[in-house]
Amino acid sequence: MVLDELRTPIVLAPMAGGPSTPDLAAAVSQAGGLGFLAAGYLSAADTAERIARTRTLTEAPFGVNLFAPAAPTPTDDYAGYLAELSRDFPVGEPRFDTDDWDAKLDMLVGERVRVVSCTFGCPSVAEIARLHEAGSEVWVTVTSVAEARRAIEAGADVLIAQGAEAGGHRGSFMDRPEDDVTDPLSLFALLQLLVANVNVPIVAAGAIATGPGVAAALSAGAAAAQLGTAFLRCPEAGTAPLLRDAITMDTPTMLTRAFTGRRARGLRNRFLLDHPDAPAAYPEIHYATGPLRAAARAEGNADAVNLWAGQTHTLAAELSAGDLVRQLSEDAKAALKKALSHRIQGC
Ligand SMILES: Cc1cc2nc3c(=O)[nH]c(=O)nc-3n(C[C@H](O)[C@H](O)[C@H](O)COP(=O)(O)O)c2cc1C
Repeated sequence: MVLDELRTPIVLAPMAGGPSTPDLAAAVSQAGGLGFLAAGYLSAADTAERIARTRTLTEAPFGVNLFAPAAPTPTDDYAGYLAELSRDFPVGEPRFDTDDWDAKLDMLVGERVRVVSCTFGCPSVAEIARLHEAGSEVWVTVTSVAEARRAIEAGADVLIAQGAEAGGHRGSFMDRPEDDVTDPLSLFALLQLLVANVNVPIVAAGAIATGPGVAAALSAGAAAAQLGTAFLRCPEAGTAPLLRDAITMDTPTMLTRAFTGRRARGLRNRFLLDHPDAPAAYPEIHYATGPLRAAARAEGNADAVNLWAGQTHTLAAELSAGDLVRQLSEDAKAALKKALSHRIQGC
């Protein structure tokens, strides 16, 4: 298992849309953690180029992340929302695609990367078997025990437990507004439930930003911690300047469908507040809001851009990715020692 080969149990979260770069993935892998490339929004050919570039930077293992495709949403479900947006913003064509799923799977089977992870759903039994034959482990992001059971039945090797605190899109297999009446599980709750119910290694994700946070995840039974927002200010990350600056400010985060039609956590801004009831229609709304987000980005207007970030975003440091991995490891070790020395003697 790749997790057993790591010098430190720190995994870089894949971050599509800019932040993930070969340099960032390679720096984390070189420092003894597990780097990740994000294939979301890229073509299979562009993803292959990034894999090749990462391989020139490190011989250590790294992973590649895919978005599982959903089904198209009926136009009637989102036409009203887009009509409302078009009164104030440039709105593009809503369209459906599979994010090049089949071509990316074929490409990955050929590339034989060590880990393929998947969010927004689980590959089929046959797809996981193909990746296994090619020598790849398959990791699946889950947000509930029910999703974890489905992923294990399909053949997943490792689960990524994504708590509600996490930045970016929720990896839930289904994104249904009717489920919003119950709160999504926080990482600590999800981790304990998974440890009690399943028997595969778990990687913990969601607002982990410090060594003590890594230590807490390991203490709760995770095999490793996966961090995204904590790496956004690293020089190797391709984070847009607007997001790089915004996460230093003490702005609360919120879950929203306003930008993409899929629930995601981002920094609170005008656009999120103005559209609290945006419908679930991914990727249709993602494509339709592309022009308005691009225009806002060009103007430096942080009020109409998706600023994906987890709840501990102010802790993200401007450090090289390698130094960040080393610091997290040392601080996690110290935190575990400190926890042990506390009150357990009496037991
Ligand atoms: C900017 C950004 C982009 C993200 N893109 C992806 C992605 O492409 N694929 C994925 O599986 N998760 C993605 N995520 C979610 C992460 O995998 C992970 O769950 C999250 O970063 C953990 O929470 P944290 O950001 O508080 O560390 C993204 C997160 C952020 C912040």
